[in-house]
Amino acid sequence: MKAKELIEKLIYGAYKREPTCDTIKAGDPEKELKRVMVTMFATVDVVRQAKEWGADMLIVHEPTYYDHWDIVEENKVTIAKKKLIDESGIVVFRYHDHMHSRDIDQITQGELHYLRLDGTVSKTPYDASYMFTANEPITALELANRMENKLGIKHVRIAGERNKKSTKIAACFGTPAGVYELLTSDDVEIVLTGEACEWKLCEYARDASLLGINKSIIVMGHIPSERDGMRLLAERMKKEYKSFETRYIECGEAYTYTDEE
Ligand SMILES: [Fe+2]
Ligand SMILES: [Fe+2]
Repeated sequence: MKAKELIEKLIYGAYKREPTCDTIKAGDPEKELKRVMVTMFATVDVVRQAKEWGADMLIVHEPTYYDHWDIVEENKVTIAKKKLIDESGIVVFRYHDHMHSRDIDQITQGELHYLRLDGTVSKTPYDASYMFTANEPITALELANRMENKLGIKHVRIAGERNKKSTKIAACFGTPAGVYELLTSDDVEIVLTGEACEWKLCEYARDASLLGINKSIIVMGHIPSERDGMRLLAERMKKEYKSFETRYIECGEAYTYTDEE
């Protein structure tokens, strides 16, 4: 299978986005695939490991060159990274919009799957934000612990109520639209998100809980809040495509912390 043929298959069945950032960022679309690596973000380390493994293609969710459209603004970092990628010959494909535009958003599905949470997912008016109604009531603290244990996220942060059992959870992985609207809705108790404006979202949740209103926001980090969607994609690809080998690689978190080496 060629790289361009795999891309057609991945996009097929999703609501077509136009314009879309889901394009090839490097490499030859005609390349025959024997090894495909899947990750959340093409860090320099991930590219090096992909090259070492002999990957023909690297599928990522986020931009490679720090711009939504991957327009390469030339500076020391982008020039060196582009050289590394171009010399590797690896086809880099961003699979973002169409991951989010299926009937069930594949990122949301992956996060809930690896969190081992049972419940019902429904759409909201906001792009890539969903309502999750948990079968078992859970507190924000329990949820945050589960994120650390099951998803390996370091330092999950909670603003607002920690200890009240809740079922009405807004799943806003990454940084999607509608987080404030969902947080302020009477139909939402806990919001899960990647990044948050602290003075607006976190302080709203803190004040709500001080007023006795069950409301919290859990800030997971952008990459940690979406990467399990890519992990699940790799698992699906392994089952679906036998003509090439698929491997998921963890790209880690952008931040480091004082309590680690
Ligand atoms: Fe996303
Ligand atoms: Fe994202």
